[in-house]
Amino acid sequence: MHVTVCLAAEDASPWMDLFGAALPGAHVERREPDAPVAAGAPRADYVVAAHPCRTVFDEQPAPRAVFTVSAGVGHMLRLPNLPRDVPLIRVEDAGMGAQMVRYVLAAVLGFAQRLPAYAAQQRAVRWEQHSPRAPASLAVGVLGLGVVGAAVARALAAQGFAVRGHARTAKAIDGVRGFAGAEGFAAFLDGLDVLVAVVPDTADTAGVLDRAALSRLADGAHVVNIGRGSALVEEDLVALLDSGKLSGATLDVFRTEPLPPEHPFWRRPEIAVTPHIAGLTIPGDTVAQIAAKIGRLERGLPVTGVVDRGRGY
Ligand code: GLV
Repeated sequence: MHVTVCLAAEDASPWMDLFGAALPGAHVERREPDAPVAAGAPRADYVVAAHPCRTVFDEQPAPRAVFTVSAGVGHMLRLPNLPRDVPLIRVEDAGMGAQMVRYVLAAVLGFAQRLPAYAAQQRAVRWEQHSPRAPASLAVGVLGLGVVGAAVARALAAQGFAVRGHARTAKAIDGVRGFAGAEGFAAFLDGLDVLVAVVPDTADTAGVLDRAALSRLADGAHVVNIGRGSALVEEDLVALLDSGKLSGATLDVFRTEPLPPEHPFWRRPEIAVTPHIAGLTIPGDTVAQIAAKIGRLERGLPVTGVVDRGRGY
């Protein structure tokens, strides 16, 4: 079996050793993401594409499956040469979910404890106490209830927040009030104190968090985005912070990454910016997941995490 891992040299460690150990007997080879197409390259049974990998599919037009090392696959679906009739398989959780739960809990508990407001008071050298807020008095909405979003919603419910969840199709999660589809979107948003977005980058999610949507949140609401930056209309967020409608945001993903130095988000004290770290790929867990799926495919068994290209994730 031949496995081509499309990965830059500086990222080769620890991935290549892990793949070698997890796939004994396979020929595992690293390919530079933008290497020129090599005529006569050995045919890969499987391609593992660590993004961005623009030329690999000109060389490998018909592998048995393509794997990503990320949960999000928008960048793959935009590749013009991605083979059509081949399963594209994304990472499912593999240690990301627990990290993202902790990231969201830090942001939402911080908001509940009014830490951003007290930070603003500190900048203004102002000593002023506010009454405590019980989690049950705060409505927190999770937009996107995939593996990660559902885990986030459950963790928020366990903290006692009044949790709502929104997905394309209805999903039942204990302790979470469910909303679905375009028809349920406004009711989901209405009066939320915190909105947590965990949606992938698809045609349906592009720009959903615009002025109209964000204006439905409670006055002084906080926005958390850990999915993809394309969901948020960044100018609209800034305008609603300027007007005082929203009080702040915790953002891990952006329309352009890395976030350009001149971007206004960097200099807004009400916005916490992190560099796309809420759910980092854990190499050991990810390689184990991919190797297990290759094992199943080799035995003719079905695997989970196959991207529905029409849906976009
Ligand atoms: C991270 O953003 C991922 O998609 O895995």
